[in-house]
Amino acid sequence: MKFNLAIDGPSAAGKSTIANSLASKYHLIHLDTGAMYRAVAYQAALLSLDPSDEEAMADIAKNLPLEMTADGRVLLDQIDISDKIRNETISWMASVLSKHKKVRECLVALQQKIAGKGGYVLDGRDIGTVVLPDAELKIFLTASSKARTRRRLLEYQAKGLKVSEEEIAADIIKRDQQDSTRTNSPLKPAADAIIIDTSDMSIEEVIAKISSYIDERFVKDHD
Ligand code: DC
Repeated sequence: MKFNLAIDGPSAAGKSTIANSLASKYHLIHLDTGAMYRAVAYQAALLSLDPSDEEAMADIAKNLPLEMTADGRVLLDQIDISDKIRNETISWMASVLSKHKKVRECLVALQQKIAGKGGYVLDGRDIGTVVLPDAELKIFLTASSKARTRRRLLEYQAKGLKVSEEEIAADIIKRDQQDSTRTNSPLKPAADAIIIDTSDMSIEEVIAKISSYIDERFVKDHD
């Protein structure tokens, strides 16, 4: 069955890793919508543009030569920028420009077009509320800022990046504040989302829990 799965939540809640594993397990395609806002931020950084300038950011979003590959790579003008969009500068710029209505309209339309046929896992902030309000299953992942800081620190250490725990914690708190208080599509669970607090859970445990909902709703009936 071709269902769509929406996974929302704050930064560093493990959304992307979890969405990726679930996509492989259930033969779905993973679309990391945060990476699309990051790609706009990357282009803005290349052009030395201010992310708070709505017109300039909307112009980039409308004309972005972006390709999101089925295996999760982000291509800009056919160049793989997947690793270049994962740093604190781009994270912050993406969060700033994602406030703009015109940018959101453009990226949301693109996301809806991509996932229109079903069979997708989308992760982001507004998937259950705005992008796919009819998604068959909506999950909202939360975790304490302490747990998220710990996870992001391990992620950076694994990549050999030197960022202090204090810097990561400050970035997470600042971004959460910005993403959840903006006027346009703020981060919040959809009314029909299942909320999972992952603070004390391993990635495997979260995957097992979401899998149990998927199996119950979609797999059993279609065996
Ligand atoms: O999920 P992420 O950390 O890669 O997202 C980067 C920024 O993009 C995030 O701070 C807010 C924004 N974003 C958004 O507004 N809506 C989405 N669906 C996904 C991300």
